[in-house]
Amino acid sequence: MQLYPLESRGVLSIAACNSGKSFAERVIRELCLIAKKEDDNLEYRLRDTQEIVFPNGEVKVVINEFIRGDDFYIIQCIDDPLSDRSVNDNLMALITATHAAYQSDPDHITVVIPQFPYARQERRKTRESISAKLVAKFLEDAGAQRVLTLDIHSEAIQGFFNYAKLEDMHASGEITEYLLNKLKLNKKNLVVTGPDVGSAEKARHYSKRLGTSFAIVDKARDYSKPGEVESMRLVGDVEGKDILIVDDMIATGGTLIHAATLLKENGAQDIYVAVSLPFFNGNAVEKIEQAYRKGIIKLVIGTDAVFWGEAFVKNTEWYEEVSVAPLFAKVIYNINRKRSVSQLLK
Ligand code: R5P
Repeated sequence: MQLYPLESRGVLSIAACNSGKSFAERVIRELCLIAKKEDDNLEYRLRDTQEIVFPNGEVKVVINEFIRGDDFYIIQCIDDPLSDRSVNDNLMALITATHAAYQSDPDHITVVIPQFPYARQERRKTRESISAKLVAKFLEDAGAQRVLTLDIHSEAIQGFFNYAKLEDMHASGEITEYLLNKLKLNKKNLVVTGPDVGSAEKARHYSKRLGTSFAIVDKARDYSKPGEVESMRLVGDVEGKDILIVDDMIATGGTLIHAATLLKENGAQDIYVAVSLPFFNGNAVEKIEQAYRKGIIKLVIGTDAVFWGEAFVKNTEWYEEVSVAPLFAKVIYNINRKRSVSQLLK
Protein backbone atom coordinates (compact mmCIF):
# COMPACT_ATOMS: atom_id res chain seq x y z
CA MET A 1 0.00 0.00 0.00
CA GLN A 2 1.42 3.43 -1.01
CA LEU A 3 1.71 5.78 2.00
CA TYR A 4 1.72 8.95 -0.12
CA PRO A 5 -0.23 9.53 -3.35
CA LEU A 6 2.08 9.14 -6.36
CA GLU A 7 2.70 12.19 -8.50
CA SER A 8 1.13 12.04 -11.94
CA ARG A 9 0.74 14.07 -15.15
CA GLY A 10 -2.94 13.10 -15.23
CA VAL A 11 -4.93 10.20 -16.62
CA LEU A 12 -2.58 8.03 -18.67
CA SER A 13 -4.49 7.83 -21.90
CA ILE A 14 -3.40 5.62 -24.80
CA ALA A 15 -4.77 5.51 -28.33
CA ALA A 16 -3.47 3.79 -31.44
CA CYS A 17 -3.73 4.07 -35.17
CA ASN A 18 -4.69 0.75 -36.79
CA SER A 19 -1.12 -0.48 -37.30
CA GLY A 20 -0.19 0.46 -33.73
CA LYS A 21 -3.08 -1.41 -32.08
CA SER A 22 -1.34 -4.68 -31.32
CA PHE A 23 1.75 -2.91 -29.93
CA ALA A 24 -0.55 -0.69 -27.83
CA GLU A 25 -2.24 -3.80 -26.37
CA ARG A 26 1.12 -5.26 -25.42
CA VAL A 27 2.24 -1.97 -23.84
CA ILE A 28 -0.98 -1.75 -21.82
CA ARG A 29 -0.56 -5.31 -20.59
CA GLU A 30 2.92 -4.39 -19.37
CA LEU A 31 1.69 -1.14 -17.80
CA CYS A 32 -0.78 -3.15 -15.72
CA LEU A 33 2.03 -5.45 -14.55
CA ILE A 34 4.20 -2.45 -13.60
CA ALA A 35 1.35 -0.79 -11.71
CA LYS A 36 0.66 -4.05 -9.86
CA LYS A 37 4.32 -4.46 -8.94
CA GLU A 38 4.51 -0.85 -7.74
CA ASP A 39 1.24 -1.25 -5.83
CA ASP A 40 0.02 1.74 -7.82
CA ASN A 41 -3.61 2.45 -8.47
CA LEU A 42 -2.67 3.76 -11.93
CA GLU A 43 -5.47 5.52 -13.75
CA TYR A 44 -5.17 4.58 -17.41
CA ARG A 45 -7.54 4.41 -20.39
CA LEU A 46 -7.35 2.85 -23.83
CA ARG A 47 -9.08 5.45 -25.99
CA ASP A 48 -11.28 4.38 -28.89
CA THR A 49 -10.15 5.61 -32.30
CA GLN A 50 -11.37 5.07 -35.82
CA GLU A 51 -9.15 5.16 -38.91
CA ILE A 52 -11.11 6.11 -41.99
CA VAL A 53 -9.73 5.58 -45.50
CA PHE A 54 -11.54 7.49 -48.24
CA PRO A 55 -12.08 6.10 -51.75
CA ASN A 56 -9.30 8.35 -53.09
CA GLY A 57 -6.80 6.97 -50.54
CA GLU A 58 -6.90 9.90 -48.11
CA VAL A 59 -6.96 8.89 -44.45
CA LYS A 60 -8.03 10.39 -41.15
CA VAL A 61 -8.05 9.17 -37.59
CA VAL A 62 -10.90 10.20 -35.30
CA ILE A 63 -10.65 9.98 -31.50
CA ASN A 64 -14.05 8.84 -30.29
CA GLU A 65 -13.64 9.88 -26.65
CA PHE A 66 -13.13 12.94 -24.49
CA ILE A 67 -9.38 13.38 -23.72
CA ARG A 68 -9.25 16.97 -22.37
CA GLY A 69 -6.58 17.23 -19.65
CA ASP A 70 -5.16 13.72 -20.27
CA ASP A 71 -1.53 12.65 -20.50
CA PHE A 72 -2.09 11.34 -24.02
CA TYR A 73 0.02 8.79 -25.96
CA ILE A 74 -0.64 7.89 -29.58
CA ILE A 75 0.96 4.67 -30.83
CA GLN A 76 1.70 3.79 -34.45
CA CYS A 77 3.90 1.10 -36.06
CA ILE A 78 4.63 2.69 -39.38
CA ASP A 79 6.08 -0.29 -41.26
CA ASP A 80 3.54 -3.01 -40.53
CA PRO A 81 4.15 -6.34 -42.29
CA LEU A 82 0.71 -7.60 -41.27
CA SER A 83 -1.17 -4.87 -43.11
CA ASP A 84 -1.37 -3.71 -46.70
CA ARG A 85 -1.03 -0.05 -45.65
CA SER A 86 2.21 1.53 -46.87
CA VAL A 87 4.71 3.42 -44.73
CA ASN A 88 3.36 6.66 -46.21
CA ASP A 89 -0.28 5.68 -45.46
CA ASN A 90 0.63 4.90 -41.86
CA LEU A 91 2.69 8.06 -41.43
CA MET A 92 -0.22 10.15 -42.69
CA ALA A 93 -2.64 8.33 -40.35
CA LEU A 94 -0.30 9.19 -37.46
CA ILE A 95 -0.14 12.85 -38.44
CA THR A 96 -3.95 13.09 -38.56
CA ALA A 97 -4.25 11.27 -35.22
CA THR A 98 -1.74 13.64 -33.61
CA HIS A 99 -3.59 16.66 -34.94
CA ALA A 100 -6.90 15.17 -33.82
CA ALA A 101 -5.39 14.93 -30.33
CA TYR A 102 -4.16 18.51 -30.54
CA GLN A 103 -7.72 19.64 -31.36
CA SER A 104 -9.03 17.76 -28.32
CA ASP A 105 -6.98 19.53 -25.62
CA PRO A 106 -5.10 16.87 -23.69
CA ASP A 107 -2.45 18.35 -21.37
CA HIS A 108 0.40 16.41 -23.01
CA ILE A 109 0.75 14.71 -26.41
CA THR A 110 3.40 12.00 -26.85
CA VAL A 111 3.79 10.17 -30.15
CA VAL A 112 5.06 6.59 -29.73
CA ILE A 113 6.67 5.26 -32.90
CA PRO A 114 8.95 2.27 -32.37
CA GLN A 115 10.14 2.82 -35.97
CA PHE A 116 11.03 6.39 -36.93
CA PRO A 117 10.17 6.68 -40.67
CA TYR A 118 12.62 8.11 -43.21
CA ALA A 119 15.41 7.92 -40.60
CA ARG A 120 17.92 6.89 -43.27
CA GLN A 121 17.24 10.11 -45.17
CA GLU A 122 18.88 12.30 -42.54
CA ARG A 123 21.55 14.01 -44.65
CA ARG A 124 21.99 15.24 -48.16
CA LYS A 125 24.46 13.84 -50.66
CA THR A 126 23.06 15.31 -53.85
CA ARG A 127 19.94 17.21 -54.96
CA GLU A 128 17.70 15.40 -52.49
CA SER A 129 15.48 16.04 -49.50
CA ILE A 130 16.46 15.63 -45.82
CA SER A 131 13.23 13.73 -45.27
CA ALA A 132 13.81 12.82 -41.60
CA LYS A 133 13.75 16.54 -40.87
CA LEU A 134 10.41 16.86 -42.68
CA VAL A 135 8.98 14.03 -40.56
CA ALA A 136 10.09 15.88 -37.41
CA LYS A 137 8.42 19.04 -38.70
CA PHE A 138 5.17 17.23 -39.62
CA LEU A 139 4.97 15.71 -36.12
CA GLU A 140 5.65 19.00 -34.38
CA ASP A 141 3.25 20.93 -36.60
CA ALA A 142 0.55 18.33 -35.87
CA GLY A 143 0.99 18.91 -32.11
CA ALA A 144 3.49 16.32 -30.82
CA GLN A 145 5.36 17.50 -27.72
CA ARG A 146 7.41 14.35 -27.25
CA VAL A 147 8.30 11.43 -29.51
CA LEU A 148 9.36 8.01 -28.22
CA THR A 149 11.21 5.76 -30.63
CA LEU A 150 13.60 2.81 -30.74
CA ASP A 151 17.21 2.73 -31.95
CA ILE A 152 16.80 5.56 -34.41
CA HIS A 153 19.16 5.23 -37.37
CA SER A 154 20.92 8.50 -36.55
CA GLU A 155 20.75 10.21 -33.15
CA ALA A 156 21.40 13.55 -34.87
CA ILE A 157 17.70 13.47 -35.85
CA GLN A 158 17.01 14.70 -32.29
CA GLY A 159 18.31 18.06 -33.50
CA PHE A 160 15.62 18.22 -36.23
CA PHE A 161 13.00 18.93 -33.55
CA ASN A 162 12.61 22.54 -32.46
CA TYR A 163 10.08 22.11 -29.65
CA ALA A 164 9.27 18.45 -29.15
CA LYS A 165 11.67 16.11 -27.32
CA LEU A 166 12.80 12.96 -29.07
CA GLU A 167 13.57 10.09 -26.68
CA ASP A 168 15.50 7.24 -28.28
CA MET A 169 15.28 3.89 -26.52
CA HIS A 170 17.57 0.93 -27.04
CA ALA A 171 16.69 -2.72 -27.44
CA SER A 172 20.17 -3.85 -26.34
CA GLY A 173 19.06 -4.49 -22.72
CA GLU A 174 16.23 -6.82 -23.78
CA ILE A 175 18.34 -8.51 -26.46
CA THR A 176 21.43 -9.15 -24.30
CA GLU A 177 19.16 -10.52 -21.58
CA TYR A 178 17.76 -12.96 -24.19
CA LEU A 179 21.24 -13.90 -25.49
CA LEU A 180 22.64 -14.60 -22.06
CA ASN A 181 19.72 -16.04 -20.15
CA LYS A 182 17.53 -17.75 -22.77
CA LEU A 183 19.96 -18.60 -25.58
CA LYS A 184 22.83 -19.11 -23.10
CA LEU A 185 25.36 -17.91 -25.66
CA ASN A 186 28.97 -18.75 -24.82
CA LYS A 187 30.52 -15.30 -24.33
CA LYS A 188 34.06 -16.67 -24.20
CA ASN A 189 34.21 -17.47 -27.91
CA LEU A 190 32.10 -14.51 -29.08
CA VAL A 191 33.08 -11.49 -31.18
CA VAL A 192 30.56 -8.68 -31.72
CA THR A 193 30.52 -6.72 -34.95
CA GLY A 194 28.31 -4.36 -36.95
CA PRO A 195 27.83 -4.80 -40.70
CA ASP A 196 29.16 -1.29 -41.42
CA VAL A 197 31.09 1.55 -39.80
CA GLY A 198 27.80 3.30 -38.90
CA SER A 199 26.89 0.41 -36.61
CA ALA A 200 30.35 0.26 -34.96
CA GLU A 201 29.16 2.28 -31.95
CA LYS A 202 26.26 -0.09 -31.41
CA ALA A 203 28.64 -3.07 -31.73
CA ARG A 204 30.99 -1.50 -29.15
CA HIS A 205 28.02 -0.99 -26.81
CA TYR A 206 26.90 -4.65 -27.11
CA SER A 207 30.47 -5.93 -26.75
CA LYS A 208 30.89 -3.89 -23.55
CA ARG A 209 27.57 -5.16 -22.19
CA LEU A 210 28.50 -8.74 -23.03
CA GLY A 211 32.18 -8.40 -22.15
CA THR A 212 33.50 -9.60 -25.54
CA SER A 213 35.91 -8.27 -28.17
CA PHE A 214 34.63 -6.64 -31.33
CA ALA A 215 35.46 -6.32 -35.02
CA ILE A 216 34.41 -3.85 -37.71
CA VAL A 217 33.01 -4.44 -41.17
CA ASP A 218 33.49 -1.52 -43.51
CA LYS A 219 30.71 -1.28 -46.12
CA ALA A 220 30.66 0.90 -49.22
CA ARG A 221 27.36 1.52 -50.97
CA ASP A 222 26.63 2.46 -54.58
CA TYR A 223 24.07 5.23 -53.99
CA SER A 224 23.04 5.25 -57.66
CA LYS A 225 21.42 1.83 -56.99
CA PRO A 226 19.08 1.98 -53.95
CA GLY A 227 19.61 -0.89 -51.51
CA GLU A 228 22.80 -2.20 -53.19
CA VAL A 229 26.08 -2.81 -51.38
CA GLU A 230 29.28 -2.21 -53.40
CA SER A 231 32.06 -3.73 -51.30
CA MET A 232 32.99 -4.82 -47.76
CA ARG A 233 36.23 -5.15 -45.77
CA LEU A 234 36.80 -6.71 -42.37
CA VAL A 235 38.94 -5.16 -39.61
CA GLY A 236 39.56 -7.65 -36.79
CA ASP A 237 40.18 -11.36 -36.21
CA VAL A 238 37.19 -13.71 -36.35
CA GLU A 239 38.89 -17.02 -37.14
CA GLY A 240 37.19 -19.84 -35.17
CA LYS A 241 34.94 -17.36 -33.34
CA ASP A 242 31.17 -17.21 -32.95
CA ILE A 243 29.88 -13.85 -34.13
CA LEU A 244 27.10 -11.53 -33.07
CA ILE A 245 26.25 -9.02 -35.81
CA VAL A 246 24.27 -6.09 -34.40
CA ASP A 247 22.44 -3.45 -36.41
CA ASP A 248 19.55 -1.03 -36.07
CA MET A 249 17.58 -2.67 -38.88
CA ILE A 250 17.40 -5.31 -41.57
CA ALA A 251 15.68 -3.82 -44.63
CA THR A 252 16.41 -5.77 -47.83
CA GLY A 253 18.92 -7.98 -45.99
CA GLY A 254 21.69 -7.11 -48.47
CA THR A 255 24.00 -5.55 -45.86
CA LEU A 256 23.54 -8.48 -43.50
CA ILE A 257 24.14 -11.25 -46.06
CA HIS A 258 27.26 -9.52 -47.42
CA ALA A 259 28.68 -9.05 -43.92
CA ALA A 260 27.87 -12.60 -42.81
CA THR A 261 29.40 -14.05 -45.99
CA LEU A 262 32.58 -12.00 -45.49
CA LEU A 263 32.83 -13.14 -41.86
CA LYS A 264 32.39 -16.79 -42.91
CA GLU A 265 35.11 -16.38 -45.58
CA ASN A 266 37.35 -15.17 -42.78
CA GLY A 267 36.81 -18.31 -40.70
CA ALA A 268 33.88 -17.33 -38.43
CA GLN A 269 31.90 -20.17 -36.84
CA ASP A 270 28.24 -19.59 -35.87
CA ILE A 271 26.77 -16.22 -36.84
CA TYR A 272 24.00 -14.72 -34.71
CA VAL A 273 22.29 -11.47 -35.67
CA ALA A 274 20.54 -8.95 -33.38
CA VAL A 275 18.43 -6.17 -34.87
CA SER A 276 16.01 -3.75 -33.29
CA LEU A 277 13.91 -3.29 -36.43
CA PRO A 278 13.44 -6.47 -38.51
CA PHE A 279 11.67 -4.87 -41.49
CA PHE A 280 12.57 -7.71 -43.92
CA ASN A 281 11.56 -5.64 -46.95
CA GLY A 282 11.23 -7.14 -50.45
CA ASN A 283 12.54 -10.72 -50.53
CA ALA A 284 14.68 -10.38 -47.38
CA VAL A 285 12.96 -13.35 -45.71
CA GLU A 286 13.83 -15.64 -48.66
CA LYS A 287 17.42 -14.33 -48.74
CA ILE A 288 17.93 -14.96 -45.03
CA GLU A 289 16.25 -18.36 -45.27
CA GLN A 290 18.78 -19.30 -47.99
CA ALA A 291 21.70 -18.03 -45.89
CA TYR A 292 20.36 -20.08 -42.96
CA ARG A 293 20.08 -23.23 -45.12
CA LYS A 294 23.67 -22.70 -46.36
CA GLY A 295 24.88 -22.41 -42.75
CA ILE A 296 25.90 -18.76 -43.14
CA ILE A 297 23.46 -17.43 -40.53
CA LYS A 298 22.47 -19.39 -37.44
CA LEU A 299 19.84 -17.14 -35.85
CA VAL A 300 18.30 -13.68 -36.23
CA ILE A 301 16.94 -12.04 -33.09
CA GLY A 302 14.53 -9.17 -33.77
CA THR A 303 12.08 -7.21 -31.66
CA ASP A 304 8.30 -6.79 -31.82
CA ALA A 305 8.84 -3.12 -32.77
CA VAL A 306 8.20 -4.68 -36.20
CA PHE A 307 5.60 -7.32 -35.40
CA TRP A 308 5.50 -10.34 -37.70
CA GLY A 309 2.86 -12.23 -35.74
CA GLU A 310 3.00 -15.42 -33.74
CA ALA A 311 2.73 -17.76 -36.74
CA PHE A 312 5.83 -16.25 -38.40
CA VAL A 313 7.88 -16.56 -35.22
CA LYS A 314 6.69 -20.15 -34.69
CA ASN A 315 7.31 -21.27 -38.27
CA THR A 316 10.60 -19.49 -38.95
CA GLU A 317 13.46 -21.62 -37.58
CA TRP A 318 16.05 -18.87 -37.92
CA TYR A 319 14.01 -16.13 -36.19
CA GLU A 320 13.43 -15.32 -32.52
CA GLU A 321 11.48 -12.32 -31.24
CA VAL A 322 12.17 -10.29 -28.12
CA SER A 323 9.49 -7.88 -26.90
CA VAL A 324 10.30 -4.21 -26.33
CA ALA A 325 6.78 -3.53 -25.01
CA PRO A 326 8.02 -3.77 -21.36
CA LEU A 327 10.63 -1.09 -22.10
CA PHE A 328 8.11 1.27 -23.73
CA ALA A 329 5.64 0.64 -20.90
CA LYS A 330 8.25 1.47 -18.27
CA VAL A 331 9.25 4.71 -20.01
CA ILE A 332 5.58 5.74 -20.45
CA TYR A 333 4.87 4.87 -16.81
CA ASN A 334 7.84 6.89 -15.56
CA ILE A 335 6.91 9.90 -17.70
CA ASN A 336 3.35 9.79 -16.40
CA ARG A 337 4.54 9.34 -12.82
CA LYS A 338 7.12 12.14 -13.20
CA ARG A 339 10.03 9.81 -12.58
CA SER A 340 13.44 9.70 -14.26
CA VAL A 341 13.68 7.95 -17.63
CA SER A 342 17.38 8.50 -18.33
CA GLN A 343 18.46 5.11 -16.96
CA LEU A 344 15.90 3.44 -19.25
CA LEU A 345 17.27 5.15 -22.35
CA LYS A 346 20.80 3.70 -22.00
C1 R5P B 1 22.62 1.11 -42.70
O1 R5P B 1 23.34 2.06 -42.46
C2 R5P B 1 21.71 0.45 -41.70
O2 R5P B 1 22.24 0.45 -40.42
C3 R5P B 1 21.41 -0.96 -42.15
O3 R5P B 1 22.60 -1.72 -42.13
C4 R5P B 1 20.88 -0.97 -43.54
O4 R5P B 1 20.01 0.09 -43.73
C5 R5P B 1 20.17 -2.26 -43.84
O5 R5P B 1 19.67 -2.18 -45.13
P1 R5P B 1 19.59 -3.45 -46.07
O6 R5P B 1 19.07 -4.56 -45.23
O7 R5P B 1 18.66 -3.03 -47.17
O8 R5P B 1 20.97 -3.72 -46.58
